Amino acid sequence: MTIVDVINKKRLGYELTKEELEYAFMGFYREEIPDYQMSSLLMAICLKGMNDREILDLTDIFIKSGEILDLSKIDGITVDKHSTGGVGDKTTLVIASIAASLGVKVPKMSGRGLGHTGGTIDKLESIPGFRVNLTEEEFINQLNTVGAAIISQTKDLAPLDKKVYALRDVTGTVESIPLIAVSIMSKKIASGADKIVIDVKVGNGALLKTEADAIEISRIMKIIGDKYNRDVETMITYMDIPLGIAIGNSLEILEVIKILKNEENNYLVSLCKALASKMVEISQGVSLEKASMMVDEVLKNGKAYEKFLEIIKAQGGDISQIKVSQNRQYVYSTKKGHITGMNAYAFGKLSLDLGGGRVTKEDKIDNTVGIILNKKVGDDVEVGDILCTLYLKEGSQPIQSDLTNFYTFEDKR
Ligand code: URA
Repeated sequence: MTIVDVINKKRLGYELTKEELEYAFMGFYREEIPDYQMSSLLMAICLKGMNDREILDLTDIFIKSGEILDLSKIDGITVDKHSTGGVGDKTTLVIASIAASLGVKVPKMSGRGLGHTGGTIDKLESIPGFRVNLTEEEFINQLNTVGAAIISQTKDLAPLDKKVYALRDVTGTVESIPLIAVSIMSKKIASGADKIVIDVKVGNGALLKTEADAIEISRIMKIIGDKYNRDVETMITYMDIPLGIAIGNSLEILEVIKILKNEENNYLVSLCKALASKMVEISQGVSLEKASMMVDEVLKNGKAYEKFLEIIKAQGGDISQIKVSQNRQYVYSTKKGHITGMNAYAFGKLSLDLGGGRVTKEDKIDNTVGIILNKKVGDDVEVGDILCTLYLKEGSQPIQSDLTNFYTFEDKR
């Protein structure tokens, strides 16, 4: 067998055997197969797809490239949560605090930002002192004492994914249902939790653009869960507009604090409550209705916020030291009307351009920059109203373009 035979077979739309997948992917992992040949195979997979058997085999190859975390020393049922990625998505921090305050064990390994989407680990690093790298022993101890720990993915879990992902990111091969399913599920299975809740995002700010794709990936993720005896629950949620009102690392942590203090009430809050209720339902053996009542209660009585403070303290963070930029630019509307849409992708990209994300792996993020959305879908706007506030890098010049184009208006005359 040669790698060119494997590429050609997939290019012509045939099914690859497990041996062929192993030869190609592990060969790439061991650096016996160069980037250009793996890129070509990834593109063929993007265009021709993979059947369930190929997806299951490839997931197994990804998992076996590293270790599987042993969480058996944790008392209680462990529930992991994952989002397929979006703009302003700070749900993990809210949900982990709510669920842990209700006795759920939340072992959370999170990622960094990718392209126009943000990452939980980058957000947490905007809290001075916060340690995202705990040892395995510290991670398990914190889960037993505090109930939740959020850390950066250790390199031993599905390391093949890290290498393949870096290549997909720069070869236009990210948006493939089989490849996304393999990538996410191999890491989730290797992370060891008993149950997994996946927030499948769909819309212009998400990797999956249609509801049919979201339904299909949910089906595949459940099949993968079944094979490894893990209970996988998926929720399809919308990512056409940014989630909440803040985009940018420090600004998003400040928004999380407001939500946990029960000072916000919007779509993001409802989404966090729905996801947390699902985690409570599947781990505590209560009905979804009862779980939602429990979630409301801990938001109202301050227990969820206390848990958040406990998690931050256990990992060395100090929220009193969070900094946001003082260099602000107010964006005024050049149109009058009712906002009916917002381009989540454009806002994610703007945050990246302000310095809040990475364009190359080596880039350093500026946690103090970002965007506050003063107007959102459903609001009426007059010419001259503030649409959003940009938090620019200290010392940098204002943005010149008219950001009114990021919004869709319905005329109100
Ligand atoms: N998140 C991942 O971890 N992998 C993907 O392929 C897409 C989103």
